[in-house]
Amino acid sequence: MPHLFNFDFHTPTDIYFGTDKLAKIAALIPKQARILLLYGGGSIKKNGVYAQITQALQNHVWMEFSGIEPNPALTTLNRALEIVRNNQLDFILAVGGGSVIDGGKFLAIAAQDTGDSWDLVLGKRPIESALPVGVVLTLAATGSESNGTAVISRHDTHEKAVFHSPKIRPQFAILDPSIMQSLPDRQLANGLVDAFVHVCEQYLTYPVGALIQDGYAEAVLRALVHLSDTFEQRHEVVWCQNLMWAANQALSGIIGLGVPQDWATHSIGRILTALYNIDHARTLSMTQPWLLRETVVAKEEKLLQLGRNVFGLSNVSALDVIARIEKLYCDLNMPLSLVDEGILDEQAVDKIVATLPASPPLWKIDQAGLLRILENVRGKVS
Ligand code: NZQ
Ligand code: ZN
Repeated sequence: MPHLFNFDFHTPTDIYFGTDKLAKIAALIPKQARILLLYGGGSIKKNGVYAQITQALQNHVWMEFSGIEPNPALTTLNRALEIVRNNQLDFILAVGGGSVIDGGKFLAIAAQDTGDSWDLVLGKRPIESALPVGVVLTLAATGSESNGTAVISRHDTHEKAVFHSPKIRPQFAILDPSIMQSLPDRQLANGLVDAFVHVCEQYLTYPVGALIQDGYAEAVLRALVHLSDTFEQRHEVVWCQNLMWAANQALSGIIGLGVPQDWATHSIGRILTALYNIDHARTLSMTQPWLLRETVVAKEEKLLQLGRNVFGLSNVSALDVIARIEKLYCDLNMPLSLVDEGILDEQAVDKIVATLPASPPLWKIDQAGLLRILENVRGKVS
């Protein structure tokens, strides 16, 4: 009889959710801390968040580093690392979406490391310590604000690598949904789809009788479907509140406790971003439906359960459920292939296959199946 695996669970991140919570950072960061304020390309200067933060930090010692790009690059982070080390900074305040937060997590583990810190990302050496990280979230998508995961890109080797450690879970995260008002539609759709796929990766395998995890996963998925159906209300407070919390819960760790998981969509997606610099969520929408079709037999029971409990579909096949997921992505203008994204590359399959051996093997997919998936991900080039 299938059953849940054993698990340990510890969530050290203090979450402050709602408007006007940003000023709290003054009390949350120790007075003697030497802070690096880390942010991206400047959206926080346009939407007033930077001004609020500098106001809140007026009695703290802090320096800043800006320019963390989407899919944060090792070279950029190494420049920030110099500032941290040269000025003995000891607290990272990451203000942004997943890219800035993940960049902050990298700085946290690299600050006191004496070797090549890329080894820590690849897991060649264990992560022994990390500086504390605090987060002001500006984009709801990754769940990075309260999880122990980070993803860093290295352009010279075309790598996008993920690392995990309980030591990089942020100490606190401010989740103020009003900050989402300045997000472009593309980022809102990306965030919704990233969260949707996060739940799927932890839910769409085979049943193990996990009543709580399944029920909660379905609640998060239903919320995301509702937010997609009501996308025209995206500037309403309640819409943003729900997306921010759904995305957080999708990858805070709770729905994945003790259940089998399959992160193959993300494994392929990271390669697509490394090769073509595509937004993370868009790599997922162009991969997941094809991957599900290839694993439809192994995942049939959970697909039907998802169809019933999330989309209200009965008397349908697992393939119909996959088509319904695909429709969700289309409704949000997400691509279903590289061609949809405007990338016409006849060599795409070979390039992706050449990179895959470095990733963990994909669950229930043999080489022929992988090629079928990738041909569909590439799309019809001519
Ligand atoms: O850089 P700025 O100017 O701030 O602009 C950003 C960026 O261009 C903009 N933005 C963010 N908040 C905004 C805003 N624009 C207007 N108003 C706001 N309030 O949005 C753009 C994208 O930001 P980014 O941080 O890259 O997006 P996201 O949160 O989707 O993060 C993607 C990164 O997270 C990784 C992805 O691989 C990718 O590198 N992931 C991290 C995970 C984790 N740590 O658990 C899991 C995920 O599966 C994912 O892999
Ligand atoms: Zn993701």
